[in-house]
Amino acid sequence: MSPFLITRTLPEDATDAALRADVLLGLTRTPKTLPPKWFYDAHGSDLFEQITRLDEYYPTRAEREILVDRATEVAAATGARTLVELGSGSSEKTRHLLDALTGLATYVPVDVSESALTQAGQALAADRPGLQVHALIADFTARMELPDTPGPRLVAFLGGTIGNLLPAERAEFLAHIRELLSPGDALLLGTDLVKDEQVLVRAYDDAAGVTAAFNKNVLAVVDRELGADFAPDAFDHVALWDREHEWIEMRLRSRVAQTVKIPVLDLAVDFAAGEELHTEISAKFRKDGVRSELSAAGLELSHWWTDREGRFALSLSMAR
Ligand code: AVJ
Repeated sequence: MSPFLITRTLPEDATDAALRADVLLGLTRTPKTLPPKWFYDAHGSDLFEQITRLDEYYPTRAEREILVDRATEVAAATGARTLVELGSGSSEKTRHLLDALTGLATYVPVDVSESALTQAGQALAADRPGLQVHALIADFTARMELPDTPGPRLVAFLGGTIGNLLPAERAEFLAHIRELLSPGDALLLGTDLVKDEQVLVRAYDDAAGVTAAFNKNVLAVVDRELGADFAPDAFDHVALWDREHEWIEMRLRSRVAQTVKIPVLDLAVDFAAGEELHTEISAKFRKDGVRSELSAAGLELSHWWTDREGRFALSLSMAR
């Protein structure tokens, strides 16, 4: 059994304070918004796992195909001795990378969920003798510091989750990643690509209603954590393609006029019938856009790989 370390860079109560702040800010502005990070309690994470197995939701399968095909090229191009994975979750797709990165000394999974980190981290430490696993409980959308580990470093941010950030937030996020790196270190980034509108909308509005349940789950999270009285079924799931911004938007549309109470915030929130609460954007990308966003952050695109159907891309870029 190799060493397993876990470091908390988030105070125990950071999650609760951040949720209160997001709910207070988001439900008192126009349009109302809630950030997508609150989808992922245990039930929401389970629903997302189900989404990744739906026929309509191609990104997970497409990205896995690329990783399986290209992991040895990633290893050769980076020579990584440290792999940092942001939003590691269950670390499932990472195994392909870990197998290929033969010179790897240290794996640093970063997640806000301590339970996911402990489970995945301990399992990995147990079946990869010699690999140091140093898990980090951190919110990678905020500032963070990496442990002192051997270079070259490879930071992986998979799944297309960067698409949940607005363009200005992406610029700040990528600049922060660049600050964590030294020249010659690399970023492996997963981005979903612009494609036929129907294919995109179906991926976020599946026939079985799993994505609808996932979207509504954010209301159940606010109910449980803040004692609110949202009735999730008083809202309809909405997924639409914004062709100007080239992103999918998920919203929750109030079926009736209603008032939701959130006692811990001393808040009563009025919804008009048909009013939409914005819960997620999932931006879709083109190669030129990814290249220029990376470049603006001091990262130079070196490889661009897609799945055979050209639906999803993994890019490798190097810190200048
Ligand atoms: C996990 C953020 C990549 O945006 O496609 C899935 C989340 N939302 N279905 C995405 C999600 C609706 C997913 N990411």
